[in-house]
Amino acid sequence: MTRASLDKQPHEVASMFDDVAANYDLTNDVLSLGQDRRWRKEVAKAVNARPAEKVLDLAAGTATSSLTFAATGAYVVPCDFSLGMLREGKKRHGWMPFTAGDATRLPFADEVFDAVTISFGLRNVQDTDLALRELYRVTKPGGRVVICEFSHPTWAPFRTVYEEYLMRALPPTARAVSSNPDAYVYLAESIRDWPDQPALAARLQGAGWSKVAWRNLTGGVVALHRGVRA
Ligand SMILES: C[S@@+](CC[C@H](N)C(=O)[O-])C[C@H]1O[C@@H](n2cnc3c(N)ncnc32)[C@H](O)[C@@H]1O
Repeated sequence: MTRASLDKQPHEVASMFDDVAANYDLTNDVLSLGQDRRWRKEVAKAVNARPAEKVLDLAAGTATSSLTFAATGAYVVPCDFSLGMLREGKKRHGWMPFTAGDATRLPFADEVFDAVTISFGLRNVQDTDLALRELYRVTKPGGRVVICEFSHPTWAPFRTVYEEYLMRALPPTARAVSSNPDAYVYLAESIRDWPDQPALAARLQGAGWSKVAWRNLTGGVVALHRGVRA
């Protein structure tokens, strides 16, 4: 069983997700106490995919995140570099155009997507800034980006309780439900290490995105960042 570390070596990250692919969605539901479904609805609202628009769902995994965009009639491309996650997705949603690709070298031409989005994926990419620039490259001028990622609760007492949950309760719970509990130790560590809301917004601006803003969900446990390609 593979567990990535904070240097996020791509082959370790990919094989860690290969290992958890079969139980990934169930484990998410349990560990997020069902909140993930609400977060996904908010991402869909923020992306606001319209019929026939081309939407890239990067780090799509099993494509659970992609389904909400496809429901509006948009053409959604789920892309990921874990073949295990892609295979699991293909079994369930064979009609979707699953594409193998690395976030730092996207297999798409310049300026092809109306919207690009990434849910719970950017934190796992070794070079965040390069991935943000790649997302920018493949987006049409006027197109938009939405990033859904774990973040940092803004109210200090809640932040303390949440960090306790992450570091103490999450790993034993994961042991009960996941095929690779160590992957959830990485999850906790990588969330703690991730930039806070203003810092991620600055990274988006640095990659060229305009009108960057964010909204907190569940008190900042998750943040939705958005931006536009001018
Ligand atoms: C936590 S899962 C999220 C899956 C899905 N977006 C969701 O919301 O359920 C993170 C995904 O990011 C993918 N990933 C991590 N680094 C990547 C990279 N450099 N290129 C493409 N995919 C990557 C992993 O393979 C994994 O499937």
